[in-house]
Amino acid sequence: MLATTTLIFIFITTVYILLRYSTRKKTFPGPKPLISLPNYFFDTILTISNKKLRNNLLNIFFPESFQYTVLTVPLASQYYTSKYGDIVQINLFNQPTIIISNPDFADYILRRNGKNYTLRFGNPSGLEYLGMKNKGIIWNTNIQRWKYQRLNFFQKALNTKLLDDAKYVSNDAVDYILKYVEKYEVKKDIIDTMDFLRSITFTITCHLFLDLPIGTISIEKTKYYVNSVVQYFKAWEYFLLKPTQFYDETQTSQHEKSIEQLNNVVNELISEREMNNNNNNNCLFINSLLNALDNQQITKEEMNQCILEMLIAGTDTSSVTMFYFLLALCDRKELEEQLRRELKENSYETLTNGLKESMRFKPVGPVIMRCAINDDIYNDIPIKNGTNIIINLADMHRRNENFTLGNQFNIINVEDKDLSNTNNEKNVFVPFGVGPKECVGRWLAKVEMEIIIEKLILNYSFERANGTKTLEELQTRWDIAQQPTDPGFMLIQKR
Ligand code: HEM
Repeated sequence: MLATTTLIFIFITTVYILLRYSTRKKTFPGPKPLISLPNYFFDTILTISNKKLRNNLLNIFFPESFQYTVLTVPLASQYYTSKYGDIVQINLFNQPTIIISNPDFADYILRRNGKNYTLRFGNPSGLEYLGMKNKGIIWNTNIQRWKYQRLNFFQKALNTKLLDDAKYVSNDAVDYILKYVEKYEVKKDIIDTMDFLRSITFTITCHLFLDLPIGTISIEKTKYYVNSVVQYFKAWEYFLLKPTQFYDETQTSQHEKSIEQLNNVVNELISEREMNNNNNNNCLFINSLLNALDNQQITKEEMNQCILEMLIAGTDTSSVTMFYFLLALCDRKELEEQLRRELKENSYETLTNGLKESMRFKPVGPVIMRCAINDDIYNDIPIKNGTNIIINLADMHRRNENFTLGNQFNIINVEDKDLSNTNNEKNVFVPFGVGPKECVGRWLAKVEMEIIIEKLILNYSFERANGTKTLEELQTRWDIAQQPTDPGFMLIQKR
C-alpha cells in the first residue's frame, strides 16, 4: 500500500515538473523578482509623498525602476549589461525592457524588423512638457505623423544637392566664426572650443535648412541661440523618462523656461527669415514646411517642433564629436602630423577614421531607445508589444571581441569599419543607428565634420589649455546625449 502511494506520488510530481518545464515561457537573461507584484502596487508606491519611504520601497520591490531614477539611462543600462551580458531583460516602470549590446539582436531591432520598432519609449507627460508628444520626428509616438514629417520635410531636404551645398556652406561658416574668434576667448588665444564648434554647426544648420545665409545672425545672437540649444538638452534629459512624481518643483520650472526659450528662438528665426528679402525658394526644409502649413497639412506647432528638432539634432551632435577628435589630436602629435600630411595630398583616410573613432569611443548618442509596436519573437523568445528596447551603443562599441583596442582611442579600431554598412547582420559599429528610424542627418554630419576639421587643422594648431583634461580623463555626462561636463578650453594659433 505504502509502495503504491509512493509510486503515485512520484508519478504526479514528475508529470507536474514536466508540465511546468514545458509551459514555462522562455525569457532573456536578467534579474528575476522574488515575488511578482501586481502593477498597481508600483503605482501605489509612487503616490507616497514621503520621498525616503517611497525610494526605499521602490528599491526593495522594483529595484530596476529605482536604478533608472537615480542613474541616467546609459549608466543604469551599463550596470545591467555588466551584470547579465549583452542581452538583458528587466522590468522598468512596469514595462518589460530589453537592454541590448549584441550586434545581431541590435540589427534585428533596428533594421531587419525595424518597422516594428519605429517608436521610442518615454514618459508621456514628460514628452508633453518638451513639446515632443505627437509632434516633430524624434520622439513622436504617432507613427503616421512621424512618417509624414520625416519623409516630407527631413528626408526630402537632406538630398544630394544639400550635401553638395553643405561643402561650401561649412567652409564659409568656419570663416565666419573664425572672424569673431575672440568672442569665444576665455583668455588671450584660449577659446571655449565647444561653443566655438557649436556656433559653426548652428550657422550651417540655419543656412541649409532655414534660409538664413551666413552672416545674417550676429555672433552675440548665435551664442545665445547655441546656449538655448544646450539648455534644452538638459530639459530633455530631465523630463524624458522618470515618472512625474520624481519631478522637483524648482528644477521643473527652470527646465520649462529652457523649453520656452528655445521655442522663442524658433519663432525669432522664422521672423528673421521673413525680414530677409532674399528668400531662396530652393531651401526645401523651411519652404516645404511653410507650404504644408499653408495647405493645412501640418499645424503651426508641428512646424515649429520640426524646426526645433533640426536645431537640436544638427547642432550638438557633430560639434561634440569634432571636439573629441581635436582633443584626441592634442595628445597625439604623430597622428596629427599624419592627418596634416594626408590632407595636403588630398587624402582623407585618417580624417574619416579619426571621426569614426571619436564616435565609437565617445558616442554622442550612447543609447538608442525604441519600443515594440506589435508582438514579435527573437531566437524563439517572445517580445510583447509595448516592450521597451535600449540599444546600449556605448557598450557595443567598446567590446573587445569587436574592436582591437576597445577601451582606447586608436584609429586601428575602425579602420575596417564602414559607416554605410547597412546590410550586415553583424554590424558592430552603428553610431547613427540603422534602418527606418536611423539618423536622417548622418551624411550631412559626415560632410560637415570633414570640411570643418580639414580647414581648422590645416590652418590652426590646437593645444590643450592649462587645466583642460585629456580625452581619457575628461568627465562627460552619459545621458540621452553624451556631452563633456569639464571645460574644453584650447589654445588656438594660426599656423
Ligand atoms: C556626429 C553626428 C551625429 C550622430 C553621432 C548622430 C546620431 C544619431 C543617432 C544615434 C540617432 C538615433 C537613431 C536611431 O534611433 O536608430 C539619431 C537620430 C536623429 N538624428 Fe542624428 N546624429 C548626428 C548628426 C545629426 C545631424 C547633423 C542631424 C540633422 C541635420 C541629425 C538629425 C537626426 C534626427 C532628426 C534624428 C531622429 C530621427 C528619427 O527619430 O526619425 N543628426 N542621430
